[in-house]
Amino acid sequence: MAYTASDFAVADDIRVAETLPAAAFRERDFLALELATLFPRSWQLVPDAASVDPGSDPRSIAELCSARGARLPFSLLGRPLFLQRGWDDAALRCFSNACTHAWYPLVAGPSRGPTLVCGQHGRKFDCAGRFVAHAGFSGLPDFPRDCDHLREFEVASWHQLTFVRDPSAGAGPALDDILTELAASTSALPLATLRRSRAVAESREVAGNWKQHVWNYMDRYHVGFIHRAPGGLADACDMSSYQTELSDHAALQWVYARRPEDGFDPALLPERFRDPAGRRVFALWWLLFPNLALNFYPWGLSINVFEPIPERPDTTLFRWYHLILDDSLHARREDSWLISQVDAEDLDAMAQVRRSLREPHLPRGRFAALEETGPHWFHRQIYRAVFEST
Ligand code: FES
Ligand SMILES: [Fe+2]
Repeated sequence: MAYTASDFAVADDIRVAETLPAAAFRERDFLALELATLFPRSWQLVPDAASVDPGSDPRSIAELCSARGARLPFSLLGRPLFLQRGWDDAALRCFSNACTHAWYPLVAGPSRGPTLVCGQHGRKFDCAGRFVAHAGFSGLPDFPRDCDHLREFEVASWHQLTFVRDPSAGAGPALDDILTELAASTSALPLATLRRSRAVAESREVAGNWKQHVWNYMDRYHVGFIHRAPGGLADACDMSSYQTELSDHAALQWVYARRPEDGFDPALLPERFRDPAGRRVFALWWLLFPNLALNFYPWGLSINVFEPIPERPDTTLFRWYHLILDDSLHARREDSWLISQVDAEDLDAMAQVRRSLREPHLPRGRFAALEETGPHWFHRQIYRAVFEST
């Protein structure tokens, strides 16, 4: 289906802007358009094994790929890829995990060596993704072509997190530029000491389009309703202090805790988060556009990815795991920070919205001018990324 930009336009002025239409949340073709436009232009977090199998090797991806020649397959947005540490240099690279001969998967599991040999007909590649040799192909005219080498993705990392980006989308902002504000807000946290939790990790399909989940994540307005039960998130936070800070590629939401013991030691955050009245920051909830949430709590970091599943616009692959700074604080994450309770409330709400999306004649929504700056930002970013940057 050919989409017309004007049917999806989200105005810059929140007072007149309409939400994206329901079609953007339920149509396969719109999801395919997102996967062809905004996702290749974005840095995507390489899934940690923890988010696939909590009992797996607890080392980070960077550690698993630290030895020369080490390689690790993974799947991202439904695409088979693998990370490869150089043999002649120490660079970490990422390639399509499909042989350039007849597309057999090249890497089946973690492995290591100077040469990669395809299991189907024996084509050989080096650790830089270059075609090396293939019996039966010597003397062929115009061979090897550029496309006989492996297709390479960009790779960048921040602390223990490894990101990749599809180069076919052309040049885009460097990961460091996207993370500038986030890095500044967390610069006093001992992030080098983050340890992966072996117990807390999950990867599962949840109801609802991936954008429903990010919209909800950016929506502080629902906190006072969906999370309002006694002992809920709305009670744990001083909602009057809630802040939403928006920039081009990232957004920060933060709020003071009701109880000082649920907040960050002020020495661990920049001066601008300090409260003369002594309140302490409950959490820094960072969204990296389009679909990665990095949630910093006094106990550590909760990583949430809302990954679209190709051809299934009404379902999202929700991947999450924890990196721990303080074990004793992490042990009381459910009592103080209500992690599971809030997730369950959000997932139930999104399942209900998915049911509503079956109604074919849903109007476009509008935004509350003060309370919904986060959702407006997200809808506008989607519109711009899909329609204005092509
Ligand atoms: S598919 Fe790899 S050598 Fe044929
Ligand atoms: Fe929520």
